[in-house]
Amino acid sequence: MEPLLKEKTILITGGTSQLGQSFVRKALEQGAKVFFTYFRNKDFAEQLQKLGAKGYPCDLANINSIHEFVAVFRKDAEQLDVLIHNAAMTADTTIEKMSEQEWDAVMKVNLKAPFYLTKQLLPLLFKVTPSKVFMVVSRAGLSGLYGAANYAASKGGLIAMAKTLAKELGRKKVLVNAVNPGFMCSGMTVHVPDKVLQKNIEESPLKTFSGPEEVAGFLVYLSSGLMRQVTGQVFHFESRPI
Ligand SMILES: NC(=O)c1ccc[n+]([C@@H]2O[C@H](COP(=O)([O-])OP(=O)(O)OC[C@H]3O[C@@H](n4cnc5c(N)ncnc54)[C@H](OP(=O)(O)O)[C@@H]3O)[C@@H](O)[C@H]2O)c1
Repeated sequence: MEPLLKEKTILITGGTSQLGQSFVRKALEQGAKVFFTYFRNKDFAEQLQKLGAKGYPCDLANINSIHEFVAVFRKDAEQLDVLIHNAAMTADTTIEKMSEQEWDAVMKVNLKAPFYLTKQLLPLLFKVTPSKVFMVVSRAGLSGLYGAANYAASKGGLIAMAKTLAKELGRKKVLVNAVNPGFMCSGMTVHVPDKVLQKNIEESPLKTFSGPEEVAGFLVYLSSGLMRQVTGQVFHFESRPI
């Protein structure tokens, strides 16, 4: 069987994340030319580069850094089949304690960067039919999340942006969808209290968290030629009912 992503050029932000690294490995195995961004985790980015992916440092909170990245990336990639907005941050606290800086920091990385990066990379996406954009979202964006108004609002905004861009870019054959990976054990969830982890497990009929490997496999399928006619959707890839 031919590799699912043969000759596809894919860019994922946050390649160094729990989900990102699983996707980078699987996409390489499936024949893709894989590019990724990272922020602080240079050592790990180097390990991923040894596997054959190409990594770029980029602070997604900073427009100048995004500009610099795009300028270099556009020299390295002539076209873009798939763009995955996966990098994200949290600054959790309740509204009474949340500062303007905590609100803005999360919005910049989680919501403004996907808008700006997509806009900058449209010329490369237009060279492929169909090309695809995925927003990695969260159930927080639909249901809210105690102590994370900034994160929940950013993910809700991403869902709305995916649905809007699907409408705007459909005529150019760019498919835009959102993927909710479910609760995964990662750097992002390391500070989640035990009782909340326990509650998540209890709410899962399978009594499990989501697995980054399984989510990455789903993203490989969505990125492949097997999915060509779906846009404006939110895929919930998790073990807890929504
Ligand atoms: N974990 C969960 O339970 C869960 C649930 C629902 C949705 N999600 C979503 O799934 C995606 C992946 O989550 P994860 O848990 O795998 O993430 P993670 O392991 O916590 O990693 C976060 C990623 O974001 C990057 N990043 C953070 N700040 C950045 C900045 N200013 N500029 C550029 N990159 C920055 C980090 O880069 P460096 O490591 O290089 O610094 C890292 O690659 C995220 O969109 C998250 O919101 C996660």
